[in-house]
Amino acid sequence: MADTDTETRSGSGSDELIFFVNGKKIVERNADPEMMLLTYLRRKLGLTGTKLGCAEGGCGACTVMLSRYQTHTQQLLHHAVNACLAPLCSLHLVAVTTVEGIGSVARKLHPVQERIARAHGSQCGFCTPGIVMSMYALLRNNPTPKMVDVEEAFQGNLCRCTGYRPILEGYKTLTVEGGCCGGRGRDDGCCMTNGNGAEESCEEDVDESTFLFNAADFAPFDPTQEVIFPPELMSLTTTQTSASLCFHGARATWLQPGSLDEFLRLKWKHPAGRVVVGNTEVGIEVKFKNMVYPVILAPAFIPELNTVTHTEDGVVFGAACTLSHMGAVLKQAVETLPPHQTQVFLAVLEQLRWFAGLQIRNVAAVGGNIMTASPISDLNPVFMAASCRLTLMDKDGRRVVRMDDGFFTGYRKTSLRPQEILLSIEIPYSKESQFVSAFKQSPRREDDISIVTAAMSVTFAPGSEVVEDLRLSYGGMAATTMLATKTAKRLLGRQWGEELLQEACSSLAEEMTLDASAPGGMVTYRRTLTLSLFYKFYLTVLQKLREQGVNVVEVRSDCLSAAEVYHPETPSSVQIYQAVLEGRGQNDVVGRPMMHLSALKQATGEAVYCDDVPLYENELYLALVTSSKAHANILTIDASAAESMPGVVSCVFAADIPGSNTTGPIQSDETVLASQQVTCVGHIIGAVVADTQVHAQRAAKAVKIHYEELKPVVTIQEAIAAQSFYQPIRTIQNGDLEAGFKQADHILEGEIHMGGQEHFYLETNVTLAVPRGEDGEIELFVSTQAATKTQSLVAKALGVPANRVVVRVKRMGGGFGGKETRTTLLSTVVAVAASKLQRPVRCMLDRDEDMLITGGRHPFYGKYKVGFLNSGKVVALDVSYYCNAGNSMDLSLSVMERALFHMENSYSLANVRGRGFLCRTNLPSNTAFRGFGGPQGMMVTESWITDVAQTLGRPAEEVRRLNLYVEGQSTPYNQMLGQFTLDRCWDECLSRSGYQQRHAAVNLYNKQNRWTKRGLAIVPTKFGISFTALFLNQAGALVHIYADGSVLLTHGGTEMGQGLHTKMVQIASRVLDIPCSKIHISETSTNTVPNTSPTAASASSDLNGAAVQNACEILATRLEPFKTKNPKGLWEDWVKAAYFDRVNLSANGFYKTPDLGYAFDSNSGRAFNYFTYGVACSEVEIDCLTGAHKNLSTTIVMDVGHSLNPAIDIGQVEGAFMQGLGLFTLEELHYSPQGVLLTRGPGSYKIPAFGDIPTHLTVSLLRDAPNDKAIFASKAVGEPPLFLAASVFYAIKDAISAARVESGISGPFRLDSPASGERIRNACSDRFTKLCPPAERGSFTPWSVQV
Ligand SMILES: Cc1cc2nc3c(=O)[nH]c(=O)nc-3n(C[C@H](O)[C@H](O)[C@H](O)COP(=O)(O)OP(=O)(O)OC[C@H]3O[C@@H](n4cnc5c(N)ncnc54)[C@H](O)[C@@H]3O)c2cc1C
Ligand code: FES
Ligand code: FES
Repeated sequence: MADTDTETRSGSGSDELIFFVNGKKIVERNADPEMMLLTYLRRKLGLTGTKLGCAEGGCGACTVMLSRYQTHTQQLLHHAVNACLAPLCSLHLVAVTTVEGIGSVARKLHPVQERIARAHGSQCGFCTPGIVMSMYALLRNNPTPKMVDVEEAFQGNLCRCTGYRPILEGYKTLTVEGGCCGGRGRDDGCCMTNGNGAEESCEEDVDESTFLFNAADFAPFDPTQEVIFPPELMSLTTTQTSASLCFHGARATWLQPGSLDEFLRLKWKHPAGRVVVGNTEVGIEVKFKNMVYPVILAPAFIPELNTVTHTEDGVVFGAACTLSHMGAVLKQAVETLPPHQTQVFLAVLEQLRWFAGLQIRNVAAVGGNIMTASPISDLNPVFMAASCRLTLMDKDGRRVVRMDDGFFTGYRKTSLRPQEILLSIEIPYSKESQFVSAFKQSPRREDDISIVTAAMSVTFAPGSEVVEDLRLSYGGMAATTMLATKTAKRLLGRQWGEELLQEACSSLAEEMTLDASAPGGMVTYRRTLTLSLFYKFYLTVLQKLREQGVNVVEVRSDCLSAAEVYHPETPSSVQIYQAVLEGRGQNDVVGRPMMHLSALKQATGEAVYCDDVPLYENELYLALVTSSKAHANILTIDASAAESMPGVVSCVFAADIPGSNTTGPIQSDETVLASQQVTCVGHIIGAVVADTQVHAQRAAKAVKIHYEELKPVVTIQEAIAAQSFYQPIRTIQNGDLEAGFKQADHILEGEIHMGGQEHFYLETNVTLAVPRGEDGEIELFVSTQAATKTQSLVAKALGVPANRVVVRVKRMGGGFGGKETRTTLLSTVVAVAASKLQRPVRCMLDRDEDMLITGGRHPFYGKYKVGFLNSGKVVALDVSYYCNAGNSMDLSLSVMERALFHMENSYSLANVRGRGFLCRTNLPSNTAFRGFGGPQGMMVTESWITDVAQTLGRPAEEVRRLNLYVEGQSTPYNQMLGQFTLDRCWDECLSRSGYQQRHAAVNLYNKQNRWTKRGLAIVPTKFGISFTALFLNQAGALVHIYADGSVLLTHGGTEMGQGLHTKMVQIASRVLDIPCSKIHISETSTNTVPNTSPTAASASSDLNGAAVQNACEILATRLEPFKTKNPKGLWEDWVKAAYFDRVNLSANGFYKTPDLGYAFDSNSGRAFNYFTYGVACSEVEIDCLTGAHKNLSTTIVMDVGHSLNPAIDIGQVEGAFMQGLGLFTLEELHYSPQGVLLTRGPGSYKIPAFGDIPTHLTVSLLRDAPNDKAIFASKAVGEPPLFLAASVFYAIKDAISAARVESGISGPFRLDSPASGERIRNACSDRFTKLCPPAERGSFTPWSVQV
């Protein structure tokens, strides 16, 4: 068989693909080379537990385990992989295990499923199956992992809800460290007794609890009980005669050669054939860059490409060796070989630590990384610095080339000939006098692409500090990985010392230039990094030379930390809340840490999300056609090519809308489908409906639109210049501003820009619309926070009354405000298509579409003038807020109003004026996002209060405390602060964080370290609870008691992971006095509770909870006579008796918040029902040379009244905090000057990952703080804690200030949000930044603009 080419043997037919899924054999005779495992699982096998979050290997929601039997080692190999990038055709003789295969609620839960759920590590649950499978694969390979193994296993998984802490906490119980007492001070090594934790929190207190779950309740983990590898597969693997396979699809042929010879012959025959091993690069090209590869060559199983050989000079890796395998081999070599030989290996391992996530490393090949020739490859700089040897082959023979500056010939090009393949790479041993280091600088440490990546190798003349050979290799500085050859040449023969350093820096600054408009932007930062990283190398080598006894200058002690390699510490945490009083009935679960009611189902994949609804028989799929221009007139739309493409059923444009084409949640200022003008990139123009998703998406790309381009307004500054504002311009004014400024000892002016934020709910927007065939009825399954809004806008577009449209929401995979109004854009189009075709139509947006179309948090620009006394007391504030509203009004006015309502954060201001301008721009409309303008409002506040402190040279903590409100004071909008607990939160936070000791320690640290600095900040928040639109402060509920005693509860709120349904069941359980197990919530729907407000503004528990209480009280009253009559009876007896007595066992409840209603014109009336308070103290450490930072510790004290469910509330606090951490320190949306969003997926837009949790995190819910304004004395919690992450931002600013002092700079400075590595580095002005001055503004067109 080896002598016959695979394709010749197979002719035009395909081979059989044999694989197993969850123990079941599958023989696929029509395997499509372009289909990924994820699609096959979800669409063909109906295994919807595995989720789609991004389709680009960046979120881990699709994680499954692949197992193979390796015949030559007789070993079973288990790997976690991303099903979204695993080609179906690559699975021959593989066993696939999905979340459904390891356990279920109905059968038996696997411990990894049970523990994440019971530890409260699943909120919306969309990430949960992926996380479960990452943990499961880890345990299959290592039943006794350490926490570092768990952290490594999760590098490729994202969660947007939980803040990660509970997931780690739950899985800690499966690690060798699992005996940990969770910070309760019982064990040696407890973080609370070894000095690392929050000092005061181990205080014994009777009503204080720190238990959120009891690990003793968990089912034991027994690794011997795992599902076995299918015996048939093992024998098939051992008996197969050839690995040659061929699969034909509509557009591509997959050829899997069985031998090297065959591979070389095929490559000769198909020089343009795409070699695919891990598909982590090619998969992205096909999905997102529209590449079509008619011939795919899959050599993954050719022995020569997988061999590892130890030679005299180093280790040779076959090109198809995975990165995980390479890492394991190199680790072993490092453990066994003399240290001087393994310098290069260590550098490769350092890069692999931060290379993608484990799922990617498990499949991605070393050859794939080299041959992709990416300018930001992390391995190629090391391979170049080490001058690795590559063996290339074609059918006529082999040649060996060095990886030097001739290897990469251009952007993603190498010197390989088209018929050649890469056979192997030799990674050399290092020499006795050689030192090698590798560096990677990326926005996020885990699973991120580099901004600049570098590897450096220096060899000295034996026993000296004289440079004999130097290779400095950089990625991210040109179209290819490049060597700084000029600099290296200049330094040859020089001594390793200060002079060489200076020469190296000025030479690198000259050689490593970048065009000011270079793709990727951050030009000044990238240039500075080349110098900073060299300086780190310089220090490292200096230290090593000294250790070897070479006579070089000693590294100053304050510079030592600059050369330290970053190693994360396993995070530790404490959660404290008020326990329920002893003696309270066990049935009464209010106030107890009850698990989210869907958590177990979420962990097993049984929870049904919108796109998990099984396919209808005649269902169609819809793909959107959107604008590629920010502002343009539409001249023509030509869908003829699309209409003739395979599978296409119809196209939908504005003319197909039977009702109104105008839409919008408040104002009707948007189109359902644009027909004349587009006002943003991503503006929806039409849709293509086809038999499958692939067909619809391909055809949508074939719709041709001709535009007449108009000038766009993209940024806030452009809008200000053009006076492009929506009306009205809101103002809140109080006191006498002029008098205030007159009274002031100082007046300062300042400004801050705060970037927007992508919601990044793990589940993108989905709608399934099912026409009912009569009377214009239509049923929609939607992932939305606003069922009623969807209903009314769909009805308007279809031209039918609302009573024909039913919107049903089971659960969402996260919402965060992003599914409050913008979901209606998609739902309406899908409904129009379904109505036109009278067939069910479905659409789930791809991640890039979702990010492009649906907007996010408003970017804000704040400009302020503040007057204050010598004491620090602020006496006057004039502030103007500008937000980038985008191309429609949406909720922007309410967002701005909330920003103004929070302009004083928690500080008393006698004389104040705040104005809010809504910038009309050509960006997709920005919308609600957790906090809804509040965080933006308060961020500006904290900027000016920091400026005040810096002007006076006083600790910011003192100035904040001095200005803090006291009980009974009034806000600028004349609301008196009653039940004021902020001062208690502040004091508790100070003491729990050990603020004073920390402050002293930070100062000492900063004196002792020049290039790393620490910073500390304590920040309060006061968040107003209520919708600012009065009419929304109402809610309804419908409760049925069935004759068997079971209760069906429905209310107006939707479940998006925040635990609303769980809290509602707790409330009903208390009022009806029955166990929660008797109560069920099925879904939210417009035909059960009408006219609902969106689930938003943190108010849903307050509003819906009170409505549920109302309904349940009505029913309890109706049942009372039967209880009295039969006091010893059971609930079921009373219900039955009432039924037979013809009592109505169904009731609806209603609630509206009393005494609300603020008027801007008179600045009177109550804007909020009450306030939720909190304080956080954070400590960080920054690396002044790279701009990287570590979150060392955060202590949060939050007043949530009497918590309805402390586990859920702490989950909300932690989740919101981590989302805020992303907002203020990490997440950056980049837009081109033409208004095109450049960051459209997890690859380029980084939300916090597991590694971003503060190393020490304490969350304390304030005790004895009942709230008389909400249900059972509780308080709203969803949004308020988000702003507390500003404590991290201001701690970073504090650390930067310490760095600037070293360069003789003091006083206020502008730091925009997020505090990215770029901003931190650029603000730490020093000798290196001076060598890389920024290009003059206006002299170039930047790659991206601050919008
Ligand atoms: C989520 C994610 C994170 C990532 N993170 C990183 C990161 O941190 N750092 C980084 O550097 N990269 C990263 N990458 C890029 C990618 O994972 C690597 O480049 C990977 O090593 C590619 O290997 P592969 O086997 O998957 O390549 P494939 O996609 O299978 O192939 C890639 C290219 O190599 C060619 N090729 C492969 N083998 C041969 C051969 N033997 N002979 C000739 N040509 C060959 C293919 O034709 C193709 O052009 C990431 C990718 C993803 C999706
Ligand atoms: S869906 Fe596969 S990694 Fe995101
Ligand atoms: S629970 Fe992790 S994304 Fe929602």
